[in-house]
Amino acid sequence: MYERTDETQLAPLPSDWPEPEALGFGQYLGPYLTEASHRAESGWSAPSITPRAASQVPVASGAVQYGLSVFEGLKAYRDPSGNIHLFRPHAHAQRLQASARRLCMPAPPENLLMTLSRLAVQVHAALVPPYGRGSLYLRPTLFAEEECLGLRAAARHRLSIAVSACSDPQPKTLRLWAEPELIRAAPGGLGAAKTGANYAAGIAGLQRARERGYDDVVWLDAHTHTQLGEAGTMNLFVQIGTELITPPLDGTILAGITRDSVIALLRERGVRVLEQTVDLDTLLAAQSAGMLGGAFGTGTASRIARISTIGDGTREIRFANRGLAEDVGSWLKQVQEGRVTLREASHAEWRVAVS
Ligand SMILES: Cc1ncc(COP(=O)(O)O)c(C=O)c1O
Repeated sequence: MYERTDETQLAPLPSDWPEPEALGFGQYLGPYLTEASHRAESGWSAPSITPRAASQVPVASGAVQYGLSVFEGLKAYRDPSGNIHLFRPHAHAQRLQASARRLCMPAPPENLLMTLSRLAVQVHAALVPPYGRGSLYLRPTLFAEEECLGLRAAARHRLSIAVSACSDPQPKTLRLWAEPELIRAAPGGLGAAKTGANYAAGIAGLQRARERGYDDVVWLDAHTHTQLGEAGTMNLFVQIGTELITPPLDGTILAGITRDSVIALLRERGVRVLEQTVDLDTLLAAQSAGMLGGAFGTGTASRIARISTIGDGTREIRFANRGLAEDVGSWLKQVQEGRVTLREASHAEWRVAVS
């Protein structure tokens, strides 16, 4: 197993690299991939470091032809002392395994993902923004690289981690389009797997939202088109009275790690959080009764984003411009960046040191 990196493989900070605040998300990629391959007959290879520019995916692979690809998105942060840690890598590893099983791909062992993630951060340590000003986003991707045009589970796969230096997400307020016609996931489908097919199924909804002047789409349930699911890349929380409600993990939405962290942080602070279905009529009724509070979305990329509106072309739900979004965002930022001590036993593994 790889323990250390060769000096020649440490990515330097390029002279034209932007200030952390100008990095945005997903645009400034690191020059290396950390990788391991899997062969049905021999299992996982030792980890390696490859120049990203040299990476090739065959056109005839299961990944390109049939979408046999699953991925994760997690972040590495600097703490106030400048040390780097990963946020909830074990939870991300477990979700990658679940996604892989759903698509009949080999589930990478947790320690393999940890080794590759640590290595990816070590190699790109110079690109990790200073404390409080951003993060290094890791994109572990498992894909079928075997060339075969017949449809079957593949015998050769690769797990590869690309990284991107990102700004700290700035507070934003979103208007969401509740898509009334298209569906993205149904019970028994792929909604809970983090796989390209879900995003391919969703891109038209995002387009339709943008054409109508909204920022993102909200997917509704496939049967009745009334119950909230999730946004394009975020889980949803809405406040009615003093309670926060988030749709349940029914297999049609992603089990967001940020969602899970937010539920834990809210409950620790005595806020009642319900994981239950919530439909558009309930929100409209709460609005009429003056009970509708704020709403927000959660995700690794944007942390917490306030939601001002959910509309479907005939109705418009307007959330209050108050509520917990800012508080939750700052609690989470402090936890993610290592500014607060994690006392809860259940949180002990949330931050994992890189070196
Ligand atoms: C469809 C979808 N839902 C929810 C989320 C939020 O998940 P997490 O908090 O683990 O980033 C994401 C982000 O990756 C997503 O793509």
